Amino acid sequence: MNIPVNKRLLSGITPSGDGSLHIGNYLGAVRQFIELAKSNETYLMVADLHGLTTIQDKKQLQQNIETLILNELALLKGFMTDDEFNNIIFFRQSDVPMHTECQSIINNVTPLGLLKRAHAYKDKLQKDVMEDDINVGLFSYPMLMAADILLYQADIVPVGKDQKQHIEITRDIAGYFNKIYKKNVFKLPAPFIPEEVAVVMGTDGQRKMSKSLGNVIAMFESEEVIRKQVMGTFTDPTRKHVTDPGHVEGNMVFTYLGFFGEPSRVKKMKELYKEGKVSDVKVKEYLYESVMTYFGPARRAYDELKNNPALVKEILARGQERALTIAIQTMKQVRDVIGVTTQYSFFDYQKPVSGKTISIDEFARVELRVGKVQEAKNKEGSDKLIRLVVDIGEENPRIIFTGVRGFGYTPEDFLGKQFFFITNLAPRKMMNEESQGMILAVDGASLKPQFVSAEGMPVGAKIR
Ligand code: ADP
Ligand code: TRP
Repeated sequence: MNIPVNKRLLSGITPSGDGSLHIGNYLGAVRQFIELAKSNETYLMVADLHGLTTIQDKKQLQQNIETLILNELALLKGFMTDDEFNNIIFFRQSDVPMHTECQSIINNVTPLGLLKRAHAYKDKLQKDVMEDDINVGLFSYPMLMAADILLYQADIVPVGKDQKQHIEITRDIAGYFNKIYKKNVFKLPAPFIPEEVAVVMGTDGQRKMSKSLGNVIAMFESEEVIRKQVMGTFTDPTRKHVTDPGHVEGNMVFTYLGFFGEPSRVKKMKELYKEGKVSDVKVKEYLYESVMTYFGPARRAYDELKNNPALVKEILARGQERALTIAIQTMKQVRDVIGVTTQYSFFDYQKPVSGKTISIDEFARVELRVGKVQEAKNKEGSDKLIRLVVDIGEENPRIIFTGVRGFGYTPEDFLGKQFFFITNLAPRKMMNEESQGMILAVDGASLKPQFVSAEGMPVGAKIR
């Protein structure tokens, strides 16, 4: 398997069924995310809006979304270091409204025929549902998915085999759009589907493991439930007695042991099984133990997250913020090339502040003073920092850095002028010096910070 590096990855899981994940989802999807996230910029999304095609009950949708969030986060946390985990951009689709906006726009470059060939929709037709009765959300499911991917300019989309066609559709749509508007606005993504785990069969040994078929082994259920699922797993139908020589091929217990068991012990067990020297129950006991051991860290992470909703919220808020940054960039370009921006345009994207809050008491401790910039120079060796020497009415002036050269600011914009400064922050190391405060700026609508002028006010005056 050729693992990509330094690419941007995006994938999503829909909160279908009851929102919980099973070992098929883990082996076929989440395990790849974890591997790939180590060497790539990774966006993982809870595709809650996609859930609406089938779930139209408020309570159930809410519950499924929460379950999926906990299941996914627990797997990630359980199998990754803290640094790796913090690098992942984990967010909810509905927390970034640009997904639906983008979908609406790309609808217009997409031929109907492309969607009519989509499997999800064709499958539904085969199940004796009249075409006229299929909801438009299901029909345009690939459009929302294309928007999900294109918004983030993803290079690679790791998915199960069943989703390959959706990535092809996405590429087609990106191509149409870029061609019509004569600009490479959207990147064409590539699917990533490791062959060896393309599809995990269910405990019935007959069909793909799937929640809706009830042939799953779960990770976050109670020990009793998981034990029952393991004990019900399909083995070798030709074997009537323990002493009969058994078959390990197509025997689901051994298939799963291949993933979760200890290789040398599995090998030995296979030999004994073929010789009729170990019972089905014994082998299943070992599978149960192996599953519990393998997912032990993830199960503990699950309990931890479930008992700490504030932490989950914080993870989602951080993910939303980072996802929005990219989604906004793309949509600005999209709006621009399609021609909705005119000389009368006033709309601009506003990035909401993160859901993380500080208390009023904490905020009340902020000290704000009027300062006059005595010196302003670009900081050597940095392409962002401007070094200010600021008189805030104390005996000595302070050194205060601002990192805004990237927005086109120069030292002249500050020199000799008065601004507001936050003056009771712990000093922060900036390259080889310490910044002894922060300049106050308005950050937001235009995304370029604006500095608040304090011209004409007494230097050193305390604003609060
Ligand atoms: P389910 O089929 O249980 O409803 P989903 O369709 O929600 O699962 O799939 C979520 C992710 O898990 C997708 O990337 C999908 O390809 C993958 N996946 C689901 N079932 C399996 C399986 N049996 N084997 C491998 N991957 C699977
Ligand atoms: N359709 C995917 C599935 O059923 C889920 C999904 C939604 C997705 N948006 C996506 C996957 C974007 C990859 C990229 O499994």
